[in-house]
Amino acid sequence: MVKEKVSMKKIIIGNLKMNLISAQEREQYLKSFKKEITGKKLNNVEIVLCPPAIHLENFGKILGKKVFLGGQNCFWEDKGSYTGEISPLMLKNFGCEYVIIGHSDRRKYFGETDETISRKINLVLKNNLKPVICVGENWEQKVKGIDVVARQLRDCLEGVTGGKIENIIICYEPVWAISSNKPDHMPETNEIMGAGLVIKRFLVGKYGVRIAEKVRIIYGGSVSSVNVNETCVGARMEGALVGKESLTPREFLKICKIIEG
Ligand code: PGA
Repeated sequence: MVKEKVSMKKIIIGNLKMNLISAQEREQYLKSFKKEITGKKLNNVEIVLCPPAIHLENFGKILGKKVFLGGQNCFWEDKGSYTGEISPLMLKNFGCEYVIIGHSDRRKYFGETDETISRKINLVLKNNLKPVICVGENWEQKVKGIDVVARQLRDCLEGVTGGKIENIIICYEPVWAISSNKPDHMPETNEIMGAGLVIKRFLVGKYGVRIAEKVRIIYGGSVSSVNVNETCVGARMEGALVGKESLTPREFLKICKIIEG
């Protein structure tokens, strides 16, 4: 009962990407994060940090009770000869509750496809982890008016029929707005709302209303404390995926506070 309530809170996920390159940088970050979060009332939001995997244990030790942990990616097998990979089971055993799947960096630099993403999602759900699935069009697709979101969802959620669909979080992340940090290169509130509706419609069609309403739909792409009202709150998003601004704990927690309301 309590769990159900918790899972429907809004969610803010910090994607630290390939940053915090030394133990010293990590310690500085954790110190600053702890200082900023201490005493803040954030009862209506779930906060997740996705550091590089090498830092997960330390993040857990220092921030364990204050934030949830997530991986930035994982493999589609639990164990074995897959050099360089990290499995959902490993993430779980090292304190993660969430894992980002199908981020556009992964698609762009590591050849990730909707097919591999769907294999990952299936295993993540099987392990009782919560996948944060990224979908969104690039600039060229936007200009041509191609509906990327519905197609990606169809292919990424192929075979995902288990009873844990409500563990899924879908992040609408227009690739052209990621790290753009330019106010004129951000989607309008109504564009984000439109994408949210496409996602909702898809989920209702595939899983029915009862399950669809339990899936949180969030926005990602240059979210900051300056634009979070337009990109998330006004667009009725149930949270945010934050990249660059999550590297500055004060800014990140400002975003959390605004979403908290
Ligand atoms: P950004 O990154 O906030 O720096 O645009 C978001 C992301 O890539 O997840």
